[in-house]
Amino acid sequence: MIEPDHSPEAVDGHDADDVTDMDALLAEVAEIARPAAKQGEVADYIPALRDEDPECFGIALVDMEGNEHVIGDVDRPFAIQSISKVFTLVLAIQKADEAEGVRKELWDRVGVEPSGDPFNSLVQLEHEKGVPRNPMINAGALVIDDILVSHCDDPRAELHALVEKVVGEPVEIDDGVMEAEGNTGSRNLAMANLMRSFGNIHNDIDDVMALYVYQCALKMTARQLARAARFLANNGIEPRTGERILREPLSRRVAAVMLTCGTYDAAGEFAYHVGLPSKSGVAGAIMSIVPDRYGISVWSPPLDASGNSKAGRVALHELTERLELSIF
Ligand code: DON
Repeated sequence: MIEPDHSPEAVDGHDADDVTDMDALLAEVAEIARPAAKQGEVADYIPALRDEDPECFGIALVDMEGNEHVIGDVDRPFAIQSISKVFTLVLAIQKADEAEGVRKELWDRVGVEPSGDPFNSLVQLEHEKGVPRNPMINAGALVIDDILVSHCDDPRAELHALVEKVVGEPVEIDDGVMEAEGNTGSRNLAMANLMRSFGNIHNDIDDVMALYVYQCALKMTARQLARAARFLANNGIEPRTGERILREPLSRRVAAVMLTCGTYDAAGEFAYHVGLPSKSGVAGAIMSIVPDRYGISVWSPPLDASGNSKAGRVALHELTERLELSIF
C-alpha cells in the first residue's frame, strides 16, 4: 500500500483516528449538511423514490481495518441506482483483464471523458456515432451492460455476487423499483436503440435493459456502500478478506473515472469542493473513496439539478475540509 498523502490531523483540531473525536466531527458535519436537503428535490419518476422521506440523512466512514464511524440513517436500505455503474464497470474490467478480445472492445465502445451533459442525455450520442462519453452516464452503463451480457454466463448473478463480496453480507433486490424502472425507461430504451443503430449494442435490447434495471434496484444501506467502496480505496484488494478484486492499475482507473465522471455534469464542482472519486445515485446516496484510508457513503434523498444529493454534497465538502481528505 502507498503511504497516505494526508495527515490524519484535521485543520480544526479533530483527529481522524480518535473515535470520540470522529463521532463529534460527524455530528458537526451532519448539523451543517442536513438543512441543505431542503433546497433539493426528491426524484419523483417512480413511487419508491417519490415516497422516500426527504429527512433521511446518514453518513458512514469505514476505514481499512473495518472500523465504522457513522451518524444518522446508515442502516436503512434504498435502491443504489446509478452507484451500481461502478460495480458493473468493475465486472466489465475484470472480464477485460481476463481476455484480450474484451479489453480491445471495452474502451473502443465507451470513452472516459466527462460528458458535461445530464446523465440521461441523448444529444452527444448522435454526434459521436453511438459511442458514449463514459461508463457513468446511462448510455455508457448500457454499453457496459451489453458487454456483460455478451461475456457473462449469468450477468445478474455475477454482478450480485461481486456486490455481496465487497459488502461482506447478502444484498437484496427491490422488486418494486426494478419493475418501475422497467416501466419508465423510455429514454434509456431510446439510447439503447440509437446505439444499436450505430452497431454499439450487440445483444437483444430487452436483455440489456433487464440487467440495467436489476443493477439500479440493488438495495443497500449507506453503511454497506461505505464498506463496498473500500476495495477501490485499497488498490483493488478487499480489505476484509484480502481478496484481489482488481489489479492495482485497473482499480486506479475506476477511481479516475469516478472522479471525472461519477457525478455527471457536476464532476468539476465535486473535484473542486470535495476532491474525492465519488459516484452518486438518484436515490440520494453518494459513494466516495479516500485512497488508502476510507470508504465513505452519505445519503440524503433530495437532489440538486444534476441529480446528486444536495445535502450529501455539503456533507462530503465539510468532511473532506475538516479531515483534509481531498486527494489534491
Ligand atoms: O436510469 C435511470 O434513470 C435511473 N434508474 C438511474 C439514474 C441515476 O441514478 C442517476 N443518478 N443520479
